[in-house]
Amino acid sequence: MRILYCEDYESLSLRAGSLVISEITQKRDLLLCAATGSSPIGLYDALVTRSRTDRALFAALRVIKLDEWVGLLENDPGSCEQYLRTRLLDPLGISPARYIALTSAPSEPEEECKRIRSELEQHGPIDVCVLGLGINGHIGFNEPGPVLLPRCHVARLSDDSRRHAMVRFADRTPHFGLTLGMQEILAAKRIILLVAGAGKQQAIAGVLSGEVTTTLPASFLWLHRNVDCLIDRESVSPWNPG
Ligand code: GLP
Repeated sequence: MRILYCEDYESLSLRAGSLVISEITQKRDLLLCAATGSSPIGLYDALVTRSRTDRALFAALRVIKLDEWVGLLENDPGSCEQYLRTRLLDPLGISPARYIALTSAPSEPEEECKRIRSELEQHGPIDVCVLGLGINGHIGFNEPGPVLLPRCHVARLSDDSRRHAMVRFADRTPHFGLTLGMQEILAAKRIILLVAGAGKQQAIAGVLSGEVTTTLPASFLWLHRNVDCLIDRESVSPWNPG
C-alpha cells in the first residue's frame, strides 16, 4: 500500500483526481467503482472540472456503484444513487448503458445482489476502485465482524453506518445496505482509498498498523498490490503520524 499524506482535503482531491484521470487516459472504457460519502466529493469535482475542457475523455468511461442503502427511494437525497447522479453521472454524461447500479429499493435484495454479481462477471473486473474509509474501518458496507463476505451481498449496517451523514435526515434510517464484497473490491486492478473527514483517526491508525483483521475491513487492502491510500492530514489531526 502506498501511503500518501496530503496537506488538506483539496490537495487530496486533486491528487486522487490526477490518478484517476491518468488511468482513464490510458484506458478510455475504464470501469470505475464509485464510493459515495464525503470523502470522494472533491475527486468527483476534479473529474467534472476536467470534463468541461475534455468531454471526450469520459465518452467511454463506465461506472459501477460501490454500495447503496436499502429502503430509500432512488431519488431520496440521501441515496447513493442520487449522490452519484448529481455529482458524477449527469455531469460526465455517463449513459445508463455505461452504468452498473445496485438499486436502493429492490423488491428482492438477494436477487439484486445476484444480478450485480453476474454483471461484474460479465463486465468486470473493476479497473479503478475509489473507496472511502468508514469511521469503524468499513469499506463499502463490508462492516467489521467475525467474517467478511467475498461477493455482492445484503449487509446489516453497524450503528456507526446508520449514523452516517447521508442518512441523518432520512425518514427511517436504513438497517441494511447492499455492497460489493471484499473479493470483488480486491479484484480491482487499482484501488484508491481516501481518508478524509472527522473521526477517522482510530480507523486509519489501525490500517497503518499493518495487521489484517476482519474487525477492520480496510486492513484487507494490504493484501492487494496496487493501493494508494491518500490521507488528509488536517482531518487526522491532532493524531500525528509524522
Ligand atoms: C459510507 C458509505 C461508503 C463510504 C463510507 C465513508 O457509509 N457506504 O461508501 O465510503 O461510509 O463515508 P465518508 O466518506 O462520508 O466518511
